[in-house]
Amino acid sequence: MFENKRLAVIGGTSGIGFRVAEKVVAAGGEAVIGGRDAKRLEAALVRLGSRASGHLVDNRDQASLKAFFRAAGAIDLLFTPGASYSRGRIDEVSDDVAESSFKSKFWGQYYAVKHALPSLSKDGAVVLMAGAYSVRPAPNGAAYGACNAALEGLGRALAVELAPIRVNVVSPGTIDSELWQRQPEATRQDAFRSYGDLALLKRVGTTDEVAETVLFLLSNGYMTGSTLYPDGGFALR
Ligand SMILES: NC(=O)c1ccc[n+]([C@@H]2O[C@H](COP(=O)([O-])OP(=O)(O)OC[C@H]3O[C@@H](n4cnc5c(N)ncnc54)[C@H](OP(=O)(O)O)[C@@H]3O)[C@@H](O)[C@H]2O)c1
Repeated sequence: MFENKRLAVIGGTSGIGFRVAEKVVAAGGEAVIGGRDAKRLEAALVRLGSRASGHLVDNRDQASLKAFFRAAGAIDLLFTPGASYSRGRIDEVSDDVAESSFKSKFWGQYYAVKHALPSLSKDGAVVLMAGAYSVRPAPNGAAYGACNAALEGLGRALAVELAPIRVNVVSPGTIDSELWQRQPEATRQDAFRSYGDLALLKRVGTTDEVAETVLFLLSNGYMTGSTLYPDGGFALR
């Protein structure tokens, strides 16, 4: 299904983005991955093998995104999970923290799509990354919850603007990725336990489960303007 398809992943050096790149390469495609850290990029490329290439990129900087896509060349598929942000309560955080998710996660993905367009196939597909706090916000990140809801709206709006290019959104619950493995053990255990209490399936998800959702959205030719929630039923309880 992905044979001879070329995928670009902004934020493909670890976590969900890496897993999607790995699956597309395993299915006969090529991946061009990007992230900010050179060592992480190099290690990811070693793991992905000869059908992968990569470039440093920071999605908060349009010049960096432009240079990434110029170097990447022609692509058929785009996935944009990379984002750097902090979050916290409206009455506790600085303006910089409050705005960080919109700066990197919302505008970072918006401008990634914009600067990918000259290289993206006219029958190509895009998957944006949101998060299930869009529909069930946590009590410590109003701007982050709103950012995820805005991304789901952006996916619908871009599907309309860019058709026949297909644009969809994946909006996961808590996923056991490197993002969490970098947290202190106690913080991670607490977060996973409380997510298990809230989700119908009583556990956090895996990068594999989200990557399969993304592959479906990238490959199903009749999906556009939709959001899928690999969240174990978190949004329903
Ligand atoms: N894991 C979860 O529980 C979960 C749940 C819902 C939504 N999400 C969303 O999924 C996305 C990815 O999460 P993950 O768990 O896969 O995280 P991860 O393992 O930390 O991977 C993030 C990837 O994005 C890159 N990145 C970070 N900031 C970037 C920037 N400014 N520009 C370009 N690349 C950047 C990272 O590399 P560098 O650090 O080297 O740049 C890395 O390749 C995030 O947007 C997150 O909000 C995650």
